Amino acid sequence: MNAAPVGVFDSGVGGLSVLHEIRRQLPNESLVYVADSGYVPYGEKSPEQIRQRSRAIAGFLLGQGAKALVVACNTATAAAVNDLRSLYDLPIIGMEPAVKPAAQATRSGIVGVLATTGTLQSAKFAALLDRFAGSVKVITQPCPGLVELIEQGELQGPRIEALLRGFTAPLLAAGCDTLILGCTHYPFVRQVLQHLLPPEVNLVDTGAAVARYLQDRLVEANLLAAGPAAVERFWTSGDVKLMHKVLPVLWGRDANVEWLPV
Ligand code: DGL
Repeated sequence: MNAAPVGVFDSGVGGLSVLHEIRRQLPNESLVYVADSGYVPYGEKSPEQIRQRSRAIAGFLLGQGAKALVVACNTATAAAVNDLRSLYDLPIIGMEPAVKPAAQATRSGIVGVLATTGTLQSAKFAALLDRFAGSVKVITQPCPGLVELIEQGELQGPRIEALLRGFTAPLLAAGCDTLILGCTHYPFVRQVLQHLLPPEVNLVDTGAAVARYLQDRLVEANLLAAGPAAVERFWTSGDVKLMHKVLPVLWGRDANVEWLPV
């Protein structure tokens, strides 16, 4: 069982930003990744549609022998992680916008959250604010259109810059000094964003924390891989050729991509 892979999924290629952190922290783990790009964006779908996709993908990853699951998508976590945990008996790690670290880091007392509409409207996000925002003012900003460009491997250039300027202008005007990247696609435009923003603005995301938490859960369940024979496998429900094209950009190297049969 320890040699079994960790299953990771997202609505698309955004979860690769989390996969990078997992690979960095857990070099011995085999990883199986599903990009549900045929159904992206999740941010505009109903919670029930997201739960259905998440169940289908989790079932597929369990069929691949996954010993643990990482829902590398804030939107799918908000809509489906409780449902998955009630259905499947294995460690299931979700992710949520980094409100707690941002509330600790801000000096202006005003934090911005860039995330999908689905995440920002969810009960989980409301509960997160109740729990961790404290006296910090939190301003939310949905980012329609950004995920679609990142899915095409477009990480810079005039279209990305125009979107990012538009999304961040109201947050800066409101005095935010800390911005949460509350969607796993957004770390891929982190550099452009940093370049567009004043240098004192901090960007926070949860990829590294999720990888650390995964490690803790594997240790606790005595499931950590011992050997160095880690492999990676990729599936997409979208365009296999496109994922092939964007993998070197987003994952840093080419890899085989298979069609997702669910
Ligand atoms: N990557 C996903 C997230 O972390 C959402 C992208 C989408 O809208 O599909 O929220």
